[in-house]
Amino acid sequence: MGKTVGIDDIATYVPKVYLDAEEMAEARGIPPGKLTRGLGIEKVSIPDAHEDASTMAAMAALMVMEKNDLEPKEIDFIHVATETGPDAAKPISCYVLGMLEQRYGAGSFDHVGAPETKFACVGATYAMIDRLAYIASGWNRAEYSIVVGTDIAKYELNSSGEPTQGAAAIALLLKENPRLMAYEPQFTGFGTVDDKDFFRPIERTTAVVNGQYSIGCYLRDMRIAVDGYRKNMLESGVLKPSRESLVDKIRLASFHSPFPKMVLYAFADFLIHDWRRLPRWKKIAEKIGPEPSREGFADVEYYISDGHKNYRRNFTGTKEFTEEYQNKVADSLTALSLIGNSYTASVWLGAASHFETMRDDLEGKRFGIGSYGSGSSAIVCSFIVQPDYRQVASRIGLIEKLGQRQKISMTEYEDLHEGRLKLDESVMPPKNEFALETIGKETNDYGYRYYRYVE
Ligand code: CAA
Repeated sequence: MGKTVGIDDIATYVPKVYLDAEEMAEARGIPPGKLTRGLGIEKVSIPDAHEDASTMAAMAALMVMEKNDLEPKEIDFIHVATETGPDAAKPISCYVLGMLEQRYGAGSFDHVGAPETKFACVGATYAMIDRLAYIASGWNRAEYSIVVGTDIAKYELNSSGEPTQGAAAIALLLKENPRLMAYEPQFTGFGTVDDKDFFRPIERTTAVVNGQYSIGCYLRDMRIAVDGYRKNMLESGVLKPSRESLVDKIRLASFHSPFPKMVLYAFADFLIHDWRRLPRWKKIAEKIGPEPSREGFADVEYYISDGHKNYRRNFTGTKEFTEEYQNKVADSLTALSLIGNSYTASVWLGAASHFETMRDDLEGKRFGIGSYGSGSSAIVCSFIVQPDYRQVASRIGLIEKLGQRQKISMTEYEDLHEGRLKLDESVMPPKNEFALETIGKETNDYGYRYYRYVE
């Protein structure tokens, strides 16, 4: 066995203003129940005029440093994952480094590596694996690395994607012998396909999305990654093929949440796929009937067909599904239903939500991650919760922060969405945070972003 490496702490950053889902529904002429019960969305986090993906990333990184009394010399890498970066060449990680140096002194981070990773919403999980592998190899020159996931999920006004917006950032503090959870690299499964479910050409601020099709891609890639994860578990002898399900081995799981109902779809399809070969399926099949035929359907089309959706709906009504979902997944959505989509940060906010909400003893238990990014790729991996996790879990503070935000009106939201407010016209002016101050207009700095910490 190699070194034990993993996540030592998680810091979360969420903008201070939000839009109420029911008010959005009323303004758009949608039944509010479609957003609240149908998609599972209660509140949507909206970045204020002075914020962008870089300020959110810098806030999350600063928080994880301050929380743990870290000095810049203890940091090896600041590695940022995003799909909503403002620049095609300069990585957000470098802007973040500049902002942190406003707090810690000029040149204080000049020794760190600072790359940026892009793969839609799965980017932070890829970055985390890279950094953990580096620490496990012993090549690191300082004890800690920080991986930041930061994103603003933005779709056209009045589009069907509009209710599934949101914004947030997370910072994962990584090290050898972590306090929170230790990575199990030997089981990780990937599922990757060149597809066009969702993308954002350079010239656009909103994504091009094939809504229902993207749901099918998520489910297809997750299945491929789960198959890889299961194969690895079987080969290691941890899983007994004839009787045991993967879910028997997992205490908690967090999935990427573009909207909370998607997590229910993903978990249900995962269980159908994993249980149909096990003895326990007989009783369930008696209740919900035979699975519809796949004949005539391509993989993705099957997942979004009415036949499969009805079948899955029947399965999610069984007590077998409900028990697993409530015990292992539902708490991850406590925070996510109040934030909305935050792309690459989402699956990790779900993990933070679990640690804050779950009261059972988690020491030594397995924590599963189902990360998905459009384009498309899924990663299924797991961690073992460590003995010192309680001191980290008790200081996450995400749910409390979500309760302190201010609601904005539809007019304020639309002004922010359309960029009609100047950088200094924020709904809640910046205080004790980084702010985007100006964007260069001269030939030699056109589009360059200037940030400042506002006391
Ligand atoms: N009361 C209660 N429920 C209602 C209702 C009402 N009045 N009206 C509809 N519903 C239910 C529907 O029955 C459905 O529930 P089921 O799960 O039982 O089928 C649910 O509300 C959703 O309805 P639709 O599927 O008709 O919703 P839609 O097609 O209008 O929009 C969407 C959903 C496709 C996700 C759209 O919001 C969208 O395009 N979002 C952006 C893309 C996206 O998030 N894709 C997810 C996968 S890709 C990914 O994960 C990467 C990423 O982050 C982008």
